[in-house]
Amino acid sequence: MSITHKLHWRYSTQSFDSRRKLEEEDLTEILDAVHLSPSAFNLQPYDLVLVHNRELQEKLYEVSCGHTQVRDASHLVVFAVHKELSPEYITSVFQEHKALDPTKEFSSPPLRNEDVNALVCRKKEEGSFIPWATNQAYLAAGVLLLAAADLQVDACALEYLKLEDYDRILELDANLKSVLVIALGYRSNQDGFSHKKKHRRALEKMIHLRY
Ligand SMILES: Cc1cc2nc3c(=O)[nH]c(=O)nc-3n(C[C@H](O)[C@H](O)[C@H](O)COP(=O)(O)O)c2cc1C
Repeated sequence: MSITHKLHWRYSTQSFDSRRKLEEEDLTEILDAVHLSPSAFNLQPYDLVLVHNRELQEKLYEVSCGHTQVRDASHLVVFAVHKELSPEYITSVFQEHKALDPTKEFSSPPLRNEDVNALVCRKKEEGSFIPWATNQAYLAAGVLLLAAADLQVDACALEYLKLEDYDRILELDANLKSVLVIALGYRSNQDGFSHKKKHRRALEKMIHLRY
């Protein structure tokens, strides 16, 4: 199946079959794909919280604006961005990369640690650090959705949730902030949305050619 066939197959699952559990190897492959997602300076300024616990999912459902996916999906992947990156964090990421490939100074473009630090500090001062980190997390979430579709695992991205309550219920570290949740599992055969035709803006209205 081509990638576009897979993208036609996938849809934002509204109703999950709560009896079906995600296969462990599929979960591993999906997480590996997220892990390989590119990010600016290769800093990956987000963590993932994996939820697979009915009691916890019920609690989260109460703060999920009626999204039953949270309660019924097999797993939830919560993307939580770092509110700031300390110079120590940046150094440790660079050192980790260097340890993996000692022949290279950095695994991302050859920027110096101090330059990245300065850039991150500037973003924080301008108040644009969290939106910037969120961009990186959303890109990884896109990779996750594609990897799930590739494995014929159903998924739904959810952002209209009471995410501050997620931070509290999941007991996140003070430096983390939930920004997006992806519910994973298998569609219920009662989900009428699975048969809906895909609607998108016309491609020619979206693409501006400057040949
Ligand atoms: C970042 C993001 C956030 C979304 N948030 C929600 C949400 O909170 N609730 C919901 O039902 N669907 C949500 N969706 C699903 C979109 O509505 C859906 O992707 C869009 O309508 C296209 O439909 P399709 O995914 O079935 O092709 C979200 C999708 C994305 C990419």
